Amino acid sequence: MTQLVHVERCEGIAIVRLQNAPVNALSAQVRSDLFDALQSLSQEASVSGIVLTGAGRGFSGGADIAEFAGPAGSFRLGRDPAQVNAFIEQIDKPVVAAIHGFALGGGLELALSCHARVTLADARMGLPEISLGVIPGAGGTQRLPRVVGLTKALEMMLTGQPVTGKDAAAIGLAELAADGDVVSSAIRLIKSRAPGDGVWRVTRFMQVAGDSLNHLGDIEKAKGRAAAMGPRTTAASRIVECVAAAFEKPFDDGMALERSAFTQCLESAESAALRHVFFAERAAGKLDAGRAAVALKVSTVGVVGGGTMGRGIAMSFANAGIPVRLLELTEQKAVAAVDAIRLEYQRQMERGRLKASDAAGRSLLIQAACDEREIGTCDLVVEAVFEDMQLKIDMAQRLGSICREGAIIASNTSTLDLDRLAQASGRPADFVGLHFFSPANIMRLVEVVRGRDTSEQTLATAVAMVRRIAKVPVISGVCWGFIGNRMLEPYLREVESLLLEGATPAQIDRAIERFGMAMGPCRMMDLAGVDVVAKVVEERAKEGNLPSDPLYRIVSRHLAAVGRLGQKSGEGFYRYEGRAAADDIDAHSLVQSMAARLGVEQRQDITSDEIVQRCMLPLINEGYRILEEGIASQSSDIDVVWLTGYGFPQALGGPMYHGERLGSAHLLDRLSHYAKSRGNTWNYWTPAAMLAARVGENQ
Ligand code: COA
Repeated sequence: MTQLVHVERCEGIAIVRLQNAPVNALSAQVRSDLFDALQSLSQEASVSGIVLTGAGRGFSGGADIAEFAGPAGSFRLGRDPAQVNAFIEQIDKPVVAAIHGFALGGGLELALSCHARVTLADARMGLPEISLGVIPGAGGTQRLPRVVGLTKALEMMLTGQPVTGKDAAAIGLAELAADGDVVSSAIRLIKSRAPGDGVWRVTRFMQVAGDSLNHLGDIEKAKGRAAAMGPRTTAASRIVECVAAAFEKPFDDGMALERSAFTQCLESAESAALRHVFFAERAAGKLDAGRAAVALKVSTVGVVGGGTMGRGIAMSFANAGIPVRLLELTEQKAVAAVDAIRLEYQRQMERGRLKASDAAGRSLLIQAACDEREIGTCDLVVEAVFEDMQLKIDMAQRLGSICREGAIIASNTSTLDLDRLAQASGRPADFVGLHFFSPANIMRLVEVVRGRDTSEQTLATAVAMVRRIAKVPVISGVCWGFIGNRMLEPYLREVESLLLEGATPAQIDRAIERFGMAMGPCRMMDLAGVDVVAKVVEERAKEGNLPSDPLYRIVSRHLAAVGRLGQKSGEGFYRYEGRAAADDIDAHSLVQSMAARLGVEQRQDITSDEIVQRCMLPLINEGYRILEEGIASQSSDIDVVWLTGYGFPQALGGPMYHGERLGSAHLLDRLSHYAKSRGNTWNYWTPAAMLAARVGENQ
């Protein structure tokens, strides 16, 4: 018995409990201690069976992902996980995994090497390795198909999605799905069956279910699917190969293949980036332990404004079971907003994305309100009125007087000065920014904007709330556009410069989408509304916040002025048939004549490389400025904002991670190249001090 592996005995049965909080990750020390404990119990004559279980929240969250960061193979240091599993499998007493909470990755592989599995009905069991760009590396690719068959195993490994304990029992992954105390159920199972009973299965000797014709068809289909899995293609293809081997080859050969495939995936740049994403998301919204306050309890939420944003925000809370009052100016408007939400839930239900009972339950949680006093008793009120400074100031003032003492007031502003709004409320300590992204009920990112006077308790409550509604909170300081939109500006600035210089929207979007962004910038502006995009620039101009560059974001402003508003008006950077974008000669000639008028020389030699570099370099450079100003407290937060809010490619780990991979010297060299070739009148290519200093340090 050690700190990490606890053993107790109960009427001849040994209960071995992993206790490596928070998720019982199978670190080198856990594996060693587990192996030692099992070896000794296997030899103890008074022990007739072993139950393997986990303390705390779940059975096991799998391999310790932090150990993947060392040189390849180092995560096998100590006891190799495959070796531990092989040892368990050959113990000549029944070993039963008792699963609650979750058995994921290496945790499920461990359970698969036990002779039977008992689970709670709501536990989650799966092999999610693909989401980290790797494959199961401790026998999962060989044992899972033997237990659940080829098709189901492929499905589980290629999607990475877990099955519930109830479903696990239905597909034979668990012997039974119990209620109550799962360890007692496992003990009962051991006691009720004789040695040699069919229930005690040593998986390596089982046959994969399915006939060879189906198997070949399934493998071919899976190969096609794997090839289209973007950054996860390598891992997906290797999974298919290993699963085919489980059908075609002896167990040990399959294990050897799995081992080499796992190592290849682990060493890939994609996997390193995806692992960075895993930890970055979990590090986001972490509060300084020394300063953090206890979050307040939030039972009811008020949302002000029933437009697209307000409705999406209201749904986000209702989806997490939190009652919402949705305030509009008139009863008619309030009812219309709630009706629109009901219709959306109905649509989701018809598409099979939501159960009828959930659609009804969520709809009931949202109440229309048209009297301000109705939101006065809420614990948190989020205003989502039109993005206009005076309107938001008036609203902040009203909320400051309406909301009950101790309530939290949040603004969904995406660009405005939060400190001014906080002052207007008269309660700046209670005031915070909650910048949801559109569509708010779908997008996972929320920038939690910490004002100059936001109290620790308000901040802690806002962060906890965002996590409670299953979104990712990233804390940002106050500056124009916060983290995300501030970085978007130099990106779009270059897009519009490239258009004036002769690149077409399709050429730019193609280059940026090949780089991996979910959507090219021109299509994105068309989708958001070119007028909306242009208004942001105009507002900044009014505040005197724009560079004095006469060409600054001139294209979108001009398109908006001539009524090319994007998808909604059928014309923007493209022409639209429904949602399909087509090249538009009128848009080209508009931009061409603008360029001629403004004296911008058009070029034919713009390459994809230039497009990607000119768009990405200023964006990354702005990220360094955000860091040096303390607007973001860690660079991984900036990555999370761009990964979850703007469709930055996961395989590149986020803009700052990508910048680090490219190297500071390279970034500096390219910035200086464009400063020379494009000119640097407006300091667009001047490196952030932090970036320049890094190169200085390394020289
Ligand atoms: N290795 C190392 N650390 C892990 C881990 C793992 N396999 N799984 C979770 N953690 C850490 C998280 O980084 C987090 O650490 P922090 O508190 O310092 O930020 C902590 O455990 C809690 O994880 P979190 O995801 O916030 O908790 P949760 O309750 O929402 O989810 C799991 C728990 C297990 C479902 C989830 O963490 C998960 O999916 N883990 C990865 C499972 C996996 O992919 N395993 C295969 C590895 S190849």
